[in-house]
Amino acid sequence: MQHYHDFLQEILIEEDILQARIRELGAEISRDYEGKPLMLVCILRGGVMFLTDLMRTLTIPHTIDFMAVSSYGAGARQSSGQVRITLDLQTSIEDKDVLLVEDIIDSGYTISSVIDLLRTRQPASVRVCTLLDKAIRRETEVPIDYRGFEIPNKFVFGYGLDLDEYYRNLPFVGIVRPDRYIPPD
Ligand code: IMP
Ligand code: MG
Repeated sequence: MQHYHDFLQEILIEEDILQARIRELGAEISRDYEGKPLMLVCILRGGVMFLTDLMRTLTIPHTIDFMAVSSYGAGARQSSGQVRITLDLQTSIEDKDVLLVEDIIDSGYTISSVIDLLRTRQPASVRVCTLLDKAIRRETEVPIDYRGFEIPNKFVFGYGLDLDEYYRNLPFVGIVRPDRYIPPD
């Protein structure tokens, strides 16, 4: 395995900047959902770091649950527009105020499919909180209620986001140098 230094083009968002923005989002969410049955739904696996940091900034009661989805055409770096649920929620969202917690919205297909599915289960509301927004890549309209950062059209990794499932643990968001990165076998 390569060390990330070998293919890091630049750090796009440093750890302290990420954490400061997450605290702002947490304060906003805490105000908006005061007195409501808030349930954070994290989309595995990329959203995990963001979820655990975000929830520690919330000052209101809330529950969490997880789901996992995969695009048809696994391994592809691009969503195909069709999404399959590979792990469903363990709890009911009926009458809950659901806030989807995502690492990044790219084409928008993943989150759109999840929103469509969850709306069929009679939640009180479904809203979206994404750490990163690659807005220029959007192919389907997505209402984003809370956005950490809009980022350029570059492949990024770290802070939950993977390169072939590795490097999710890094505390910052970095840009890959594709000519230097060697995928694991
Ligand atoms: P979408 O369906 O195209 O919006 O894709 C969203 C998913 O693609 C995210 O949950 C990520 O797993 C993945 N993704 C998109 N861009 C990146 C990136 O730059 N780095 C790592 N994963 C990415
Ligand atoms: Mg992902």
